Amino acid sequence: MKELSLAVLGGAAAAAVWWAVLLMRRRREKDVTGRRAQVCVVLGAQWGDEGKGKLVDVLASDVDIVARFNGGANAGHTLEVDGKKFAFHLLPCGMLHKRCLNVIGNGVVAHLPTMFDELEELGDPEALGRLAISTRAHVVLDSHREIDGMLEAEKGGGALGTTKRGIGPCYASKANRNGIRFADLKDGSVGEKVRAIRAFQAKHYPGVSEENVSRIESYAARLVAAGAIRDTVALIHEALDRGDKILAEGANAALLDPDFGTYPFVTSSTTTAGGVCTGLGVPPRRVDCVLGVVKAYTTRVGAGPFPTELDLDDNGPGHHLSTVGREYGTTTGRKRRCGWLDAPLLRYSAAVNGYDSICLTKLDVLTGIPTLKIAVDYHLDAEKLPRVHFPASLDDLARVQVTYVELDGWHQDITGCTSFSQLPSQAQNYVRAIEHHADLAVSWVGVGPGRRDIFVMPGL
Ligand SMILES: *[C@@H]1O[C@H](CO)[C@@H](O)[C@H](O)[C@H]1NC(C)=O
Repeated sequence: MKELSLAVLGGAAAAAVWWAVLLMRRRREKDVTGRRAQVCVVLGAQWGDEGKGKLVDVLASDVDIVARFNGGANAGHTLEVDGKKFAFHLLPCGMLHKRCLNVIGNGVVAHLPTMFDELEELGDPEALGRLAISTRAHVVLDSHREIDGMLEAEKGGGALGTTKRGIGPCYASKANRNGIRFADLKDGSVGEKVRAIRAFQAKHYPGVSEENVSRIESYAARLVAAGAIRDTVALIHEALDRGDKILAEGANAALLDPDFGTYPFVTSSTTTAGGVCTGLGVPPRRVDCVLGVVKAYTTRVGAGPFPTELDLDDNGPGHHLSTVGREYGTTTGRKRRCGWLDAPLLRYSAAVNGYDSICLTKLDVLTGIPTLKIAVDYHLDAEKLPRVHFPASLDDLARVQVTYVELDGWHQDITGCTSFSQLPSQAQNYVRAIEHHADLAVSWVGVGPGRRDIFVMPGL
């Protein structure tokens, strides 16, 4: 594992990128306190699968703490290091960096066997020593996973397309106030608390299997022995007092947020910037910088309205995005739905999250499409919607009429480009058009699948 941390993009390059962001932020906001920026958040800006991993990885090589604040093992990014692939579902991706402490915050839910499997896949016996799990985080039980499957089957055609990892039912237990927390694993009360929740489940979900308490206890003993269950609120505030840099890594994406997303086709935990405060115990004023990750087009998994959706089956641009972009789920193999970039969606996402800037990913996938489109406005009942307005009603969202601008495409391979000026003029125009129509500043552009296929924009 020693070579790993060295292979990560080169510390100096990553540090330069990181500081550039912070300087940009300071120029904009004039940090009157003179305090250097410490907390930076990376969020998915669309419906997920934007490719956050690469940006998080670039930034993680220069921080002290990488923290997850929401979701469970339903996140997913793969990092490729020295030809070896690492899939991250629950663990923060700072696990690949020897000097990083990795925090699983109180807003997260974790299934113990899944977490230990993921730890083992890292092939690093010391990995557990770099992990701190909040005493206030919730434990996903096997019964939560069973209930997830039952509920999904019951919904049949109207299924939400959940990953059946028990995440929704675990957050439901949290809200019902009979959930199991990591504190319970530490203070020895887990057996009694599992009995209580099992009594509840037996009544409301008859047929759900018994929980294997001794298995939970044996995992708990390993975590306790490693000192991994911690008061992460105290830990994070001590780190802030020391001047440490913290990268908060969001799971899922803005349009999957239970409040701001396309409800009910959403996930169960806050995926937007506010989740950093509620999921880590970091106060709003301490969040210095929010970065969005935007795919150069739009994809969506599962059901629900999708205004800029393209047909995947004809030989047109939808088919191109799906095949060239390899837009299918890594675990399920399910095809993702694909469409044009949606600026009204991004303006809404930016309004909710306040992105300082964005990382535009997978621009190379557009290579070879003769004419590109960007959605610039929605009309509903012949009336143009305000600049920041995304319909809450899915019926309305399904009915919106989309206005597009058309731009010339390019055919040159851009995967080797290391700067904006190397892009063909049409690709430059496309990036600038996104900034213009979505009111966003692009700071990074991803031009290929490799970890180095990303460059910083001029004037950052
Ligand atoms: C419970 O888990 C333990 C491992 O911790 C295993 O040895 C045992 O067979 C399991 N019991 C049941 C009933 O599955």
